[in-house]
Amino acid sequence: MMTANEIREKFLNFFAEKGHKIIPSASLIPQNDPSLLFTSAGMSPFKEYFLHPSAGLTRAVSCQKCLRTADIEEVSRTAGHHTFFEMLGNFSFGDYFKKEAIEWAWEFLTSVLDIPQQKMWVSVFEDDRESYQIWKERIKIPEQKIKRFGQKENFWPSNALKNGPNGPCGPCSEIFYDWGKEFSCGENCNLNCDCGRFIEVWNLVFTQFNRQDKKIENLENKNIDTGMGLERITAVVQGVKNDFETELFKPIVKKIISFNPAACSLQPAACNIIADYIRAIVFAIADGVIPANEKRGYVIRKLIRKAARLAEGLQIEIPFLHNLVSAVVKITQDTYPELKQEEQRIKDIINNEEGKFAQTMERAKEILRTKKRIDEKIAFELYDTYGLPYEDVENLALQKGIKLDKQKFTQYVEEQRQRSKESSGFNKQIFKGAANLSASVYAANEKERAKKQGLPLPNVWGKEEIDVARNHTATHILQSVLREILGKHIKQAGSIVFPSYFHFDFIHPKSLANEELSRVEEMVNEKNIKNDSVKKELMPKKKAIESGAIGLFEEKYGKEVTVVSVGDYSKEFCGGVHVKRTGEIGLFKIVKESSVGAGIRRIEAVSGRFAYQLIKKGEDSLKEIASLFSTSLEKTKEKAEIVFKEMKEIKKKNERFKKELFSYYAKDLAKKVEQNVIIEQFSDFDLLELREIVDVLGKKTEAGIVGLASVKNSKIYLIMNANKDLSKKVHCGQIINEVAKLMDGKGGGRADFAQASAKRVEKLPEALKVWKETIKKKLQVASHKLQARLR
Ligand code: SER
Repeated sequence: MMTANEIREKFLNFFAEKGHKIIPSASLIPQNDPSLLFTSAGMSPFKEYFLHPSAGLTRAVSCQKCLRTADIEEVSRTAGHHTFFEMLGNFSFGDYFKKEAIEWAWEFLTSVLDIPQQKMWVSVFEDDRESYQIWKERIKIPEQKIKRFGQKENFWPSNALKNGPNGPCGPCSEIFYDWGKEFSCGENCNLNCDCGRFIEVWNLVFTQFNRQDKKIENLENKNIDTGMGLERITAVVQGVKNDFETELFKPIVKKIISFNPAACSLQPAACNIIADYIRAIVFAIADGVIPANEKRGYVIRKLIRKAARLAEGLQIEIPFLHNLVSAVVKITQDTYPELKQEEQRIKDIINNEEGKFAQTMERAKEILRTKKRIDEKIAFELYDTYGLPYEDVENLALQKGIKLDKQKFTQYVEEQRQRSKESSGFNKQIFKGAANLSASVYAANEKERAKKQGLPLPNVWGKEEIDVARNHTATHILQSVLREILGKHIKQAGSIVFPSYFHFDFIHPKSLANEELSRVEEMVNEKNIKNDSVKKELMPKKKAIESGAIGLFEEKYGKEVTVVSVGDYSKEFCGGVHVKRTGEIGLFKIVKESSVGAGIRRIEAVSGRFAYQLIKKGEDSLKEIASLFSTSLEKTKEKAEIVFKEMKEIKKKNERFKKELFSYYAKDLAKKVEQNVIIEQFSDFDLLELREIVDVLGKKTEAGIVGLASVKNSKIYLIMNANKDLSKKVHCGQIINEVAKLMDGKGGGRADFAQASAKRVEKLPEALKVWKETIKKKLQVASHKLQARLR
């Protein structure tokens, strides 16, 4: 059977032999093309060549990584749509045209891939007589198998004549594979129907026009752009009706199934969708996309969330998606070595993102569980604060018999959008957003954070505005200090300001050293103590920019902007709430520095009373530790070092004693061998220790089968070992499981080694008897069988 890798290689070689230059896949992030979110077709990286054919490159062939957001909802509704896919394509820039493109496509499909000619149909654009003639006269396709369609189906981009987009375009001719009449949906079934009978395998685009603002111009040179999805053609060549059955997806789907086979067997489509999404997620992250709230990052965030929700629907505990990364890498690493290099980073990013999502979902669901009434406003707040999708709230509401009105929800979203537009800065938007939340949602969030940090709960809602102002000004100071210490490349990449905490994300290639962090913290505190003034000024945007003010979302600001200056070191566009002098911030304390994506760092910090409480808490625990060691705070470290050293020595001694003890036990046990079998009970050993005894015993005795049990902390541990010969007669895995079941436990393993655990200690004596008997019986049966055979 031809593999996908072979098909890819044959395709590239076939066209290379026909004078095409093999061009490696470009990144999924289009270079120099702001009109595109992702590279979505093989031709995307060649756009310039279509418009201005250069003498250097006239024929090219590629296998291009593509990501199509429009197809996200199609996945698994049909068997051949994917978010991420590989597109095989050959291109001519002002060189050959329709005749060669059609003839070569046909030759490749029928002679290289050996697809039977009678299984194929084609379509052409209704006005394209030339292509029709080529198919009919040169290829000799029966006329009833050549169909004509309008610009929706047979123009690329679809409907481009009417609706755009601007750029190179042209009529196309598509080649379809026919799975057979038995898959037809009836009399009206046609090539473009997605009932499953026909699958479009190759699109040949005759790029001869350039569209510029509704004007269609002839391109100076006529071009060819073809595209064939590798996943689809692999399925056709391998004779499977579903792309997910090819080796491009199967190992991923299998891995998903291994997490919950029963649920997956009931929902195969969900498994396929997850497999599809994870490929897109992995490839996009490898190319530098980071989950975020806008643009490409938003698409990936959405895919991770959708996949995570599907996994939850399969009763798989999330975060789970990172477990699938290796499967994706393994399938594709020969072709895309960048995946292997980035494997760990990709896993970390996915795990981090899904983990955050899992937490917010939990919090949001908890809020929903405790609410008697759920309405659109709550749905909006949860969406706004936690990113909880509307559909999830809708479902939970339905379970309480409440039907939500999506329009009302959309109205809240729209109002919020307006509010953010009016507010003149990102930080203000966050603050306003927070202030607008219903007290319960907000309080839950705060409670969670305070709990995590072990802080007392903020109790009076109204008082917290000053806390927000402290953190907000501290964010500005932090940014200026980071720029001073690390360099002017430091740029804000996001920020959240709550009363009890804030975080600041910024662009920086590596983690901060401890000394750097200490210096940052120290400098912010120095500036707080200096009690510099914080000024707000309204000024024309132009003047603000000229004054050197920095800001993240410049394009969103209106003509007049507010500039906030702190001392003479920080000047930022910002409409948020601030303190009047830096002294009001009080103490500033960094809680954590971490990565939130490639090249983006996050500093989490606290200020004012929360910083004091954090330090106080740390000091209190140190005091407790000192008192455990019966010493003073100053001497605790010294004392701890001594205790650790002693502990190490004790551990070492303990190991030695244990070895001697096990050897003694083993000797003793060796005396108890009864017809090759020992079953014995111990106390206070865990599985690892039992295993050590078995190991020692193995060297000391002739016993062929050893079964040991031990009770530790009211739990029973069982271990069983059989030598090579006897493991053919007695399967340890099966027997240990039967024995464990007698005590409400379970276990398993190989024929020669198995382990189990169980709970009902009172049943142990009886179980030990059964264990011995079962082994004996098995051995007897085996020896009868042997004798019978010998006779
Ligand atoms: N650009 C065309 C497509 O994407 C052919 O490559 O279908």
